[in-house]
Amino acid sequence: MRPIVIAANWKMNTTPADAGELAGTIASRTQAPGVTRVICPPFVCLAAVRDAVAGRGVEVGAQDVHHELAGAYTGEVSVPMLAGLATWVILGHSERRAYAGETDELIGRKLDRAVAGGLRPILCVGEVLAEREAGREVEVVGAQLRGALDGRDPQALAAAGLVIAYEPVWAIGTGRNARGADAAAMATAIRTSLAALGWESAAAEVPVLYGGSVTSTNIEEFLAEPGVDGALVGGASLKPDEIAGICARAALTAAARGLAS
Ligand code: PGA
Repeated sequence: MRPIVIAANWKMNTTPADAGELAGTIASRTQAPGVTRVICPPFVCLAAVRDAVAGRGVEVGAQDVHHELAGAYTGEVSVPMLAGLATWVILGHSERRAYAGETDELIGRKLDRAVAGGLRPILCVGEVLAEREAGREVEVVGAQLRGALDGRDPQALAAAGLVIAYEPVWAIGTGRNARGADAAAMATAIRTSLAALGWESAAAEVPVLYGGSVTSTNIEEFLAEPGVDGALVGGASLKPDEIAGICARAALTAAARGLAS
């Protein structure tokens, strides 16, 4: 059975001085049986967030990681450096694709490193507005999945707990969210793409999240779709009231799907 995951992507917000307090507040206000909660702060805030949520059922993730283990890569952070700090990692976020020039091929190499190092990856995919307006969103997302996953062992990725986040670029940080039906259609298309890559039955087991202007108000629309397993939340994840509302709704879904213990 697929888990319900609510992952907070804090992006380039918070400092080591304030991240722990925010994470602690979120941990106490989002208790949600059956919901896997993950906070992904900036690298420099990982230790503060780890300490603040220790023993409180909230997991910690990085927002990116380098594809090499060590070496002359000024400013970068590798998988071994995250040991003891994070157990999840976001890969291929559209902001990294756009501002750091990340390609599907590079994202695939990061995926290998993350999985080998025991990190649970959230692989982000999604089309830009012109691609959706041209009706090419399934083709674009399919190509992103192929580019990052082709030739890799589906069983190993499934065993590593790979999560796919569908984040239409036009919905990220814009206040213009996709419709629940759009997310559901893409979740089906993603699993079809995985099946075509040889995932077979594992394709049905991969959690697919929606991301892009998720709020406590619109989360219901996404979680009402049986193929959607949670959300990757940016802006709203910095607001305790918002993320508490999102997790409360997710707990209802977890109960309805028989996940709450
Ligand atoms: P947003 O960001 O919720 O602020 O739109 C989502 C994301 O980029 O993961």
